[in-house]
Amino acid sequence: MVDLMRLDRAASIDDLRAMAKRRVPRFAFDLVDGGAESERNMRRNVEAFEEVELTPRYMVDVSQIDTCAMLFGQTYDQPFGAAPIGMLNAFWPNADLILARMCKRENIPYVASSAASTTLERLAEAADGNGWFQLYVSSDTSVTESLISRAEKAGYDVLLVTADVPAAGKRDRDIRNQLSVPFRFTPDVLLQLIANPTWSLASLRHGKPNIANYADLLKGATSYADVQKTLITPGFTWDDLKRLRERWKGHLLVKGVLHPDDALRCADIGCDAIVVSNHGGRQVAFGPPTIEALPPIAAAVRDRMKIILDSGIRRGADLIRAKALGADFAFAGRALAYGVGAGGAQGADRAFAILKLELVRALGQLGTRSFGDVGSSHLTTR
Ligand SMILES: Cc1cc2nc3c(=O)[nH]c(=O)nc-3n(C[C@H](O)[C@H](O)[C@H](O)COP(=O)(O)O)c2cc1C
Repeated sequence: MVDLMRLDRAASIDDLRAMAKRRVPRFAFDLVDGGAESERNMRRNVEAFEEVELTPRYMVDVSQIDTCAMLFGQTYDQPFGAAPIGMLNAFWPNADLILARMCKRENIPYVASSAASTTLERLAEAADGNGWFQLYVSSDTSVTESLISRAEKAGYDVLLVTADVPAAGKRDRDIRNQLSVPFRFTPDVLLQLIANPTWSLASLRHGKPNIANYADLLKGATSYADVQKTLITPGFTWDDLKRLRERWKGHLLVKGVLHPDDALRCADIGCDAIVVSNHGGRQVAFGPPTIEALPPIAAAVRDRMKIILDSGIRRGADLIRAKALGADFAFAGRALAYGVGAGGAQGADRAFAILKLELVRALGQLGTRSFGDVGSSHLTTR
């Protein structure tokens, strides 16, 4: 049962995170909440946003505020979408479909992960025109080709290839929790299931989550290494990106760009956009927060391609900060996931509503009627 009164009292994404932490067993909560090694990069993503100051401007009529953003020929109602998240149904049953449907209803993009717990076909149907597909390049080229042709058949037009996984990130919490694929019920996990009956009952109803797009291929997998080899490859190079560009007729995006020279190479290859992302701090602890990586990248490629940013978005004002520093659009990863963990579909709605309210209020305080008008002039100068 979802306590709607409690959800209504959640004022921020942090409040939803705290609620999710109480409802989701620790091993599943950590799977989403955790980052690489010391988690420094994950923390810095959020802190660095807070450090970007914007100067309010008043006495402008802001009774009507327009938050729309145009991307790849489509107008979205908000300047953010849902980032691709693998295995999210382990965090909360049916989470993938909850988010895909919410994105359709609110007219924002939903990015279906290669590693989602729901097939790309079902997610395309649920997102109904608002779905984009995220591709992990496999060490087996026939696996990659099969995903691409399925994505084409399912009607996706936007393909994001994720570049920042030459190896899986080392996430200390997952190691301590002995998280494994295929999933194993250790005595510790069983105790956590007993302590979180709402989650356990809902999970029983929906069945054990798996990595749905690869379900057949992974049937024989007996170790995490097997799974990793099927999903990703350390051998993905710029030449492969060039081949992908030739292969995919729709819009092609590279996710996980942190260096201006890499951004320039993506532009040279003819990509339509890059996603400045560090995978939410899940790959390395030593990297830069994305909001700090953004300005030199924007200076290098802003005139040539669209720039999307993710990693660390927790407030509506973060969307404005990203735009002021050169991004056109953003993705929220954990921010929306925490909502689902806090209260299923209603929790996802609450997370969306919080970000939207914060965005509109912040635009009003900045004396800006349209998100499209946000630029460097909004940054505080000293
Ligand atoms: C649990 C989890 C699973 C993820 N799975 C994927 C994935 O399958 N593919 C991908 O490109 N990015 C994946 N990401 C990264 C997100 O797409 C996004 O870059 C990140 O969540 C943004 O940071 P934020 O959570 O601070 O907003 C995942 C992130 C999390 C938290």
